[in-house]
This record gives sequence, C-alpha cells and structure tokens, in this order.
Amino acid sequence: MRNVTKDNITDVFMGYVSQDTDPRTREIMGSLVKHLHDFARETNLTHDEWQKGIAFLEGCAAIETEDRHEFVLASDVLGLSSLVDMLHSSPEATSSSVLGPFHVSGAPALAIGGDMKRDFGGPVLLAEGMIKDTDGKPIAGAELDIWQTAPNGLYASQDAEQDTFSFHGLMTVGDDGRYAFTTVKPVEYTVPTDGPVGDILRACGRHPWRPSHLHFIVKAPGYRSLVTEIFPDDDPYLDEDTVFGVRDDLVMHYVEKPAADFPSGFEISGTVSDPYLYVEFDVTLKRED
Ligand code: BEZ
Ligand code: FE
Repeated sequence: MRNVTKDNITDVFMGYVSQDTDPRTREIMGSLVKHLHDFARETNLTHDEWQKGIAFLEGCAAIETEDRHEFVLASDVLGLSSLVDMLHSSPEATSSSVLGPFHVSGAPALAIGGDMKRDFGGPVLLAEGMIKDTDGKPIAGAELDIWQTAPNGLYASQDAEQDTFSFHGLMTVGDDGRYAFTTVKPVEYTVPTDGPVGDILRACGRHPWRPSHLHFIVKAPGYRSLVTEIFPDDDPYLDEDTVFGVRDDLVMHYVEKPAADFPSGFEISGTVSDPYLYVEFDVTLKRED
C-alpha cells in the first residue's frame, strides 16, 4: 500500500504480516502494534518524545548484565510483570508474585530446620508451613527455592560483601510436605534507581520501595510451579509496593515469641537468646492441566 495515512497504518501493518504466520504471533503482534499506534495517536507523540522512548530502551540495553536486568525491572515497575502473573494465577492455588531480577539459580541445599541467617545481625525469623495440593494433601518431595536480601537490603548478586548464595537455599520437603527454616527478618528495600528505570520512577513521582518479603519458587512433579513471596502484615509499604507484588493471601502475621519458646530440631536450637519472630505459611500448588 502506498497511500499510508495515520488512520490506516495499523491495518496496513497487519496486511504486511504473512497469512502463513502462526495465529498466536498474528494475534500478539496485531494487538501490540494496534495499541502502540493508538498510544501515539492518542498522545500526539512528538519526535522528541519518541526519541526519549528510544533512548530509554537503549539505556536499558546498555546497563544489562548477567546480574542486572533492567528490562525486567522496567516491566516490574510498569506493572506488566504482575499483570501477567495475575492473568495466569489460579484461584485455587497460592497467588503468584514477581520473580524479580535477583534470584540466583543453583542455590545449595538447605536442610529442613536449616538456617540462612548465620552471623548477620537482626531478629531471627522462623518460617514454616506445608506444601500441599488443592485438596489440602501434602506434596511429598516438593522443592522450595528460597531467597531474600541481607539486612542491608541488598541481594547477594548486588553486594560484593556477600557470598554468591548468601540468603539463598533449596529445600526438599519430606512425606509430610512440611518445610521449616530460620533466617533474618527481611527488610524493606528499594529497587535500583541508578539506571533508566530510576528516571521513569522519578518522572512519575514514584518511590522505589518494596515491602519486606521472602521469595519462594515451589516446584513438584505434576504440579504447576509457583513463584511467590510472603509479606508481613505490618509493613509500611504493603499498599504501595513499587512492583505491584502484594496479594491478600500472601500477607501473613509474624508473631513475636520469647526465646524460651524456640523449638528443638532446628540448626540454631539452643543458641537463640532474644525474642524471635514466627510465621506459618502454607503453599497450595495446582496440578498441571
Ligand atoms: C525483588 O523482589 O527481588 C524485586 C522484584 C522486582 C523488581 C526488583 C526487585
Ligand atoms: Fe525481593
């Protein structure tokens, strides 16, 4: 088509997509380009503004490394990651929540009752619960990949002072489906703001804070894998998570208990001398379709 106009360009684009194109690719590209064109028409996008958008993408690409995923971060702060999570969350299962850019694969095994806090300062948190199916039955052998920041608010991959797998552990549950571990109480932290995503946050007058949380990836053969997080119910950022990750069923009460109540059977049993926090969080997985 030669006589391309601002009104027909979207249809012209679709006309250029081969009829042999896989139907889902047609649907996704058609919709993406329609919304992109509508966005430019609706906002009467100028050349300068278009150039800023291109510079943003180039800035994300320039800062990407194995440990720095600026495009993922952009998707997170724009709410796209959480929207995709919610579109595919099953109401019978525990809600999923953002993976974020800081998970390190291949964490060392953490025994049931094991400790991730080691010598780091801060209150002990004992977390336990059951990995179960939608009938409430334990899922024997489920695998729980756990990670969080150190008390300085940094993940191991962001902090030269931490070991590669600091605050990362991989636990396999037994026949009763139960997991249990100790760690340090997670802290609120800011997502990185020294790249192009920081510019977007500032341009929108938004803060970069996430409420404190523990991350889990839960897997078991025959079940849909789940990426999720647990949040304490008293965190000041619960209602304004900069990456939109909070769901009601992921908000738990952390109970403060006296040191004398600390149970036996944990790696740190017998060494706890201060009050500690306790949270119970069961995870429900849905069978694969
Ligand atoms: C995180 O929780 O690790 C995270 C999620 C999204 C963006 C940045 C960090
Ligand atoms: Fe996180």
